[in-house]
Amino acid sequence: MTDRAAVLAVLDAVTDPRSGQGLATAGLVQGLVVADGRAGFVMEVPAKETALYAPVRDAAEAALKAMPGMERVSVVLTAEAVTAAPRRTAGLSKAATDQGRPKAPVPTERPAHVKRVLAVASGKGGVGKSTVSVNLAAALAARGLSVGVLDADVYGPSLPTMMGISGQPAYEDGAMVPHVAHGLKAMSVGLLTKAEDAMIWRGPMASQAINQMVTQTRWGTQEQPLDVLVIDLPPGTGDVQLTLIQKTPLDGAVIVSTPQEVALADARRAHTLFDKVGVPTLGLVENMSGEVFGTGGAEAEAARLGAPYLGDLPLDAALRRAGDAGRPLVAVDPQHPASERFRQIAATLAASLGL
Ligand SMILES: Nc1ncnc2c1ncn2[C@@H]1O[C@H](COP(=O)(O)OP(=O)(O)OP(=O)(O)O)[C@@H](O)[C@H]1O
Ligand SMILES: [Mg+2]
Repeated sequence: MTDRAAVLAVLDAVTDPRSGQGLATAGLVQGLVVADGRAGFVMEVPAKETALYAPVRDAAEAALKAMPGMERVSVVLTAEAVTAAPRRTAGLSKAATDQGRPKAPVPTERPAHVKRVLAVASGKGGVGKSTVSVNLAAALAARGLSVGVLDADVYGPSLPTMMGISGQPAYEDGAMVPHVAHGLKAMSVGLLTKAEDAMIWRGPMASQAINQMVTQTRWGTQEQPLDVLVIDLPPGTGDVQLTLIQKTPLDGAVIVSTPQEVALADARRAHTLFDKVGVPTLGLVENMSGEVFGTGGAEAEAARLGAPYLGDLPLDAALRRAGDAGRPLVAVDPQHPASERFRQIAATLAASLGL
């Protein structure tokens, strides 16, 4: 068992050439993952200083490799984004596009043994994207498909709570082993780092972490490939979303919106973002439909966008309770009317994905 504190101590013995402090103290050890015989982290530095830090990265790798029992080490040197804060409403100007592009090389291969990758997105936060991701995944699994869910929401990972999972994933043969809960394979950025750390992750680094979770998780095997990977994207249309959708071979996207005009404008932006990178919007879902927030807004918006409308999900306390309890409603109460809606949406999506 490799100890996180020991890893940090070893890294602190490597000096940051700018501050003269140890790497950990200087805040250069970001997104640290420590598992049996493995350690990895991201070192994000100003773009102009990547050359200065390349030998520091090598020194950090060498120091980690020298630790007893350490088998695999990965230190990723990445250049800081020009603007630190994620831009929720970035347009698709050239500047915005360039800003979202990571300056360090990032693997772009398809995840191994995964047949389809489906993104669940929303322009606005809190519209129920995670609730939809998890229940949609469960509804797809109920069709006999093998399904994985990836919580890529670096700013507020919620899959561990919604699926009742915890603990760092195991590492085997150079890949992370996803948790299995309610018949779904699950991986979350929240399992790799403390939530408070995740909040401060910045664009390129966050994209890098997500990319690693997509490509370096054992979602399927040659014999038993995963039919579909559902990715719960961070809300918004800023640089993380843009980089992620550029770097991940997505087969389609589902956009979640509440019926309100303000949420719909954001849904429109999300659609535009996917359109620009050639990822088909497989449909809009109206969540929290009913007396409180209204009905029909998303259907009208889908018609305006020329995108399919997948259906509405009621604002229903059972959905919230199930989520809070870490038990997807579709899995624990398949008879519930909301579960039936999820199954209908899953049927449409399975058909559009050719599953
Ligand atoms: N149809 C619904 N009926 C009742 N409660 C819901 C419904 N959809 C989502 N909720 C609740 O609303 C809250 C926000 O939902 P959720 O976390 O899924 O949204 P999100 O879009 O993923 O948010 P974030 O932007 O923070 O990631 C949760 O407490 C969830 O249980
Ligand atoms: Mg969420």
